[in-house]
Amino acid sequence: MQNIIIIGATSAMAKEVAKLYATEKANLYLIARDTSKLDTIKQDLTVRGANTVHTAPFDANQFNSHPALIEQAFNALGRVDVLLVAHGSLPNQELCKTDSMKAIEELNTNGVSVISLLTHAAIKMEQQKSGNITVITSVAGDRGRQSNYVYGAAKGMVSTFLQGLDQRLSKSGVHILDIKPGFVDTPMTAEFDKSVLWAKPDKVAKIITNRIRKRSSLSYTPFFWFFIMKIIRFIPQFIFNKIKL
Ligand SMILES: NC(=O)c1ccc[n+]([C@@H]2O[C@H](COP(=O)([O-])OP(=O)(O)OC[C@H]3O[C@@H](n4cnc5c(N)ncnc54)[C@H](OP(=O)(O)O)[C@@H]3O)[C@@H](O)[C@H]2O)c1
Repeated sequence: MQNIIIIGATSAMAKEVAKLYATEKANLYLIARDTSKLDTIKQDLTVRGANTVHTAPFDANQFNSHPALIEQAFNALGRVDVLLVAHGSLPNQELCKTDSMKAIEELNTNGVSVISLLTHAAIKMEQQKSGNITVITSVAGDRGRQSNYVYGAAKGMVSTFLQGLDQRLSKSGVHILDIKPGFVDTPMTAEFDKSVLWAKPDKVAKIITNRIRKRSSLSYTPFFWFFIMKIIRFIPQFIFNKIKL
């Protein structure tokens, strides 16, 4: 029976991941900001077959709460097989251009808070010498674009952190997985027009759980984003500056 911690458990993608583990009778420890949404999710996962479902409230930017949050989650489950970090926010880039406090808040939510939580969780995983840490970052972290570079900077920071963490924790048998989705149809992107490039959260969840099971290190989700981002990264900056992206 697997023991799973999900941080940002009310996210559309995280909810779908939790459903898949619930049907496998996992023990789930769900951490999220909105306690009423958490209660509803807990009921749903219990009906779907979860063995136990614990819930705990948190705000990503209350950094001083992170050590106790991680400690309590690991204590409740004993051994942790999977830790998924899924919380995030899509900044108003126009606002971030002029309001540095807003930009800092977004960098904290999408970047610094994740690194803070992982710092505490990594020590626990290193001690138990097993387990998986999966973080949902974004293809936006691969290259700064004028339309979302604050978000991209935060996600890129986490991806770089994960590369180093992977090298460190590989010696302890801990698997690190950086999931970089492209466009996913969730509440975060409700305002956007959708095209064939868009994936549904249940499809993304299947990709995530498959990669965790296979200890895969593939990040791009769905995989065709590997090719799109290869092209995006390859474009010389002087040409990139002329493109409206
Ligand atoms: N959707 C996409 O196209 C896309 C693409 C690439 C990467 N991503 C990333 O995928 C992850 C999941 O997002 P999603 O698309 O599933 O969106 P979502 O359903 O809108 O979920 C966002 C989650 O982040 C939580 N959150 C935001 N600020 C928080 C804070 N300060 N403290 C605690 N929780 C906070 C939200 O909590 P509440 O329920 O309380 O609001 C919600 O659970 C995010 O990291 C996002 O950046 C999304």
